[in-house]
Amino acid sequence: MAVSVALDVDPGIDDALALILALRSPEIRLALVTTVAGNGPLVMTTRNAVRVLDHLGAAHIPVAAGAAAPLEKPFHGALNYHGPDALGGVDVPERRTHIEARAAHDLLFNFAAAAPGERILVATGPLTNVARAFQCHEEMPSMLRELIIMGGAFGLTPFGKGNQTRYAEFNIWQDPDAAYTVFHSDVPMTIVGLDVTNDPSGAFDATDLARLRTGTSREAKLAVTLVNYAISRHEYCALHDPLALAAALDRSLFEFATGHVEVVTRDDEQRGRTFLHEGAPATSDRCIARVASGVDGPRFKRLFMSRVLEG
Ligand code: BDR
Ligand code: CA
Repeated sequence: MAVSVALDVDPGIDDALALILALRSPEIRLALVTTVAGNGPLVMTTRNAVRVLDHLGAAHIPVAAGAAAPLEKPFHGALNYHGPDALGGVDVPERRTHIEARAAHDLLFNFAAAAPGERILVATGPLTNVARAFQCHEEMPSMLRELIIMGGAFGLTPFGKGNQTRYAEFNIWQDPDAAYTVFHSDVPMTIVGLDVTNDPSGAFDATDLARLRTGTSREAKLAVTLVNYAISRHEYCALHDPLALAAALDRSLFEFATGHVEVVTRDDEQRGRTFLHEGAPATSDRCIARVASGVDGPRFKRLFMSRVLEG
């Protein structure tokens, strides 16, 4: 049976590609989408999530807006990478007129509490909503079957270096205080960070784009526009967030290292830096995190292609 998944996103080109992959994957049922300020301001990321879902015939999936700014630090976007609308200027209108009235963190709790131990939350933006949910509902971490995060750079591969600063990955750097809260909970956690998502073998290049262009589905066409925007400006299209989603689809795509994870919350040059203490034992306030240390990039790309090109 398909596993119920909630996606907490900040679309964002690669968040939108993760939504596309989620909607085309029979292993999961996308039950809830929550939005957070990250790649763009909250109004923009919420609008983008709605635009993508509605365009792909998924207007029935509830969308709730979450945090407009990190827990303690000021907000910084990434429009320089994702374009002025954070979605590469894609021509997709917004159809639905209402989003959920309740706050994202409460709906995330309801999602987990509806079936304790069974549901997966995938977070592909800053962790502000997840931290708020954990702060407001202390029992929530133990209710999730798993939290999968796109974030961090752990030095586990040559690609595990910062992309926002020399040390830090964007999502974690944006709200390191939220990451601290999440890392110090007992949630079963899998982290897919730059160590694998910046591995070029798992990114789309011009050859992949040409293959995507053969697709006739709405999903394929939207993916072409998004990937084309990224490639035309950055040479290749990194698939950070789809890779995190892929951990919920096929675990065998990855290798993992395990231990405690730590984050620097200080506002100095190391802000947002993440560490893995391999082999550290589980404690009452710390689970053993699994941090991706290798990926079969070509197999992942074949998975993505098959999902949007077939059927
Ligand atoms: C992460 O930062 C964002 O810009 C992307 O959407 C991704 O979630 C990569 O560091
Ligand atoms: Ca993202």
